[in-house]
Order: sequence, then structure tokens, then C-alpha cells
Amino acid sequence: MKKKLLGIFLAATMAVGMLAGCGGAASDSSDSSDTASTTEDSGDSGASGDTISIGFAQVGHESDWRTASTKSCQDVFSEANGYDLSFVDCDNDSAAQLEAVRSFIEQDVDYIIIDPIVSTGWDTVLTECEDAGIPVIVIDRTIEDSDKYTAWVGSNFKTEGLAAGEWLKAYAESKGISEINYLTIAGSTGASAQIGRSEGFDEIAEANGWNKLDEQDGDFTEDGGQSIMESYCKSYEGKFNVVVCQNDNEAFGAMTAMDNAGITYGLDGDVILISFDACTAGLEQVKARKITADFECNPLAAPFVEEVIKKLEAGESVEKEIFMEEHWYALTDAIVDFSIDGEAQTMTEVTDDVIDAQY
Ligand code: AHR
Repeated sequence: MKKKLLGIFLAATMAVGMLAGCGGAASDSSDSSDTASTTEDSGDSGASGDTISIGFAQVGHESDWRTASTKSCQDVFSEANGYDLSFVDCDNDSAAQLEAVRSFIEQDVDYIIIDPIVSTGWDTVLTECEDAGIPVIVIDRTIEDSDKYTAWVGSNFKTEGLAAGEWLKAYAESKGISEINYLTIAGSTGASAQIGRSEGFDEIAEANGWNKLDEQDGDFTEDGGQSIMESYCKSYEGKFNVVVCQNDNEAFGAMTAMDNAGITYGLDGDVILISFDACTAGLEQVKARKITADFECNPLAAPFVEEVIKKLEAGESVEKEIFMEEHWYALTDAIVDFSIDGEAQTMTEVTDDVIDAQY
């Protein structure tokens, strides 16, 4: 579908969505003169069997999760599948990410995919995308200060935090642990994954009178996790019994720091170690009884994004928000019954088959 026509179509479907009370921003960039120019637009793609060009502004390469996310996009949006993918690793630099999006506008790609490093500061560049008639699909992390994107595919980070908190409550009760003193190694400050996981877990902590000793930014990296944990081991020696790492790589770093400090953790240790992501390497540490429970964040958004693109190419409307399925993992010793807002949760036991099937 020609880009300007797609812009008009999106504006129309979003306007219908708004009328139906579904939210969504109507584009105001397509007037009759735009319509006239569409017939001369030479950006053919997709529906006519031509290659679809996509620009993807990825967060960086900070974690196993990120590697899986990048691979998923590169596999789905391959040349063999009819795509021309421009991939930019923004190395966790928000300015570089805005620059990448602007370079995609310059290239006049058919679609832009953004995994936003931080959740704010987006309205201006998304307006530029809208004016250029390029649909934006946001994946994983959310954008809070603009709704000028076509669709978002990802996870509910607050639910992940709530799940970890409710699991800890049930697990501690099952073990007769009455006092919780916890340390958080947070993800990159301002990332919606950090904000949601902190909010969710802290909500359960406050409701149950747990003691939060500290939260510091480990930047979703193994090095970050290790250095924060090294300083925690010194500052809070003998004072904590739970460490919450906001991704697996931070947990690996925290494990090294606790090993070096002679602190035991996991199912057989003194400290309960909670992690998020549940990538292959994370689940291996669950199986090894080192990570007590791991709360999944699904990195495989690309197939869902492709569905969105196919629908847009076919002139169909799309959902503004698409949530992916996620699982909560532990060994049987740590599988307990818990619920979130009254909804019973199922936990998945980590076996070799489960690990093999993971990303
Ligand atoms: O936005 C998703 C988070 O970012 C993942 O939990 C983390 O591993 C990644 O770096």
C-alpha cells in the first residue's frame, strides 16, 4: 500500500476507534492536497509483492533478552520473507534512538519499529513520522507521552512486578519466613520495564509491610548487577533476605557478587533471589537452584508485528495494544499458589525440555 494512502487509512481507522471510545490519535496530516499527491507517491510495497522496508530502532545489546528480541526481528523481517530491514542498535542512548528514527524518515521506509529506551520524549519525533505518513509500531517498552503510533506489542511490566510480589508472599508463608528485607537491582531508570516492575513489586511490599532497604540502577546488565550487589553486600551485610533483580543478566552479576562475599542464595541459601526475563540462561540458573523464581518477559514480538503489518497492507484495522503471553517459572520446591487481583496464576516447572524450548 502506498504510504500516504496508508496514512489516510490509519487516520480513518483511528478516528473510527475514537468514535467507538477506543482511544487512539487521529492523524490530521491528510487533507485533499495530500490525497492528490498520493497517486504520484512511488513507495510501492508489500501488497503488490514488492519488498517492504522497515527501520528498527533497537534499545541496545545489554542483555540475553535483547539478543533474543533482535534475533526475532531479524529472522522475521528477513530478505527471504520480503523485507528490507534497516537495524540500528542505539546502545541505550536516547538521543541516538531519536536520530535513528529521523534517519528512517529520511530513508522514507514503509514502517518504523521502535523499542523505546525511555518512555518519555517521543511526541515530536512521532509527529514527524505521522507527517511523513510512516506508521510506527512500538514494541516491548511503552511510550507514555504520545499516542501517535499505530500499535504497540509487548508485556505488562506492572503485572510482572505484581506476580513476583504475590509469589514471594505465598513462598515466604510456605517457608515460615515472617520478615522480608529486600534489595532491588533495578533496570535502566526511566525504562517502562523498570518503572512497571518496581511499581508492581513495591505495591505488594507496601501492602504486606516488607522493608525495602534500597533500589539502585543496574542498567539491565551483568556488570551493573555485579557492581550494585557488591556495594549492597558491604552496606547491608547481614540485613537482607531477598534480592530482586529486574532481569536475568543483573541476577548473574548479583550471583557473582554474593559468591565473592560468601553469601548463599537460591533454594538452598539464605537469600531469596528473584529475577525477570526467564531467558534460557536464566532458567538454567533456576534449574541449578540459584535463582529462586523467574518471571518471564517475552522478547518474541516480531511475529505479532508482522501480523500488524500484514493487516495494514491489506487495508484492515489493527488493535492499538497487543499483549503477549508470559509464564512464571520455578522448581517444584518454589511452586506455590498465588493470584494477582483475584486471578489465580499458574507456575511452570523448569525442566530440561522447558529450558530447551526457551530463547
Ligand atoms: O525492556 C525489556 C527489558 O530490557 C528486559 O527485561 C531486559 O533484559 C532488557 O534489557
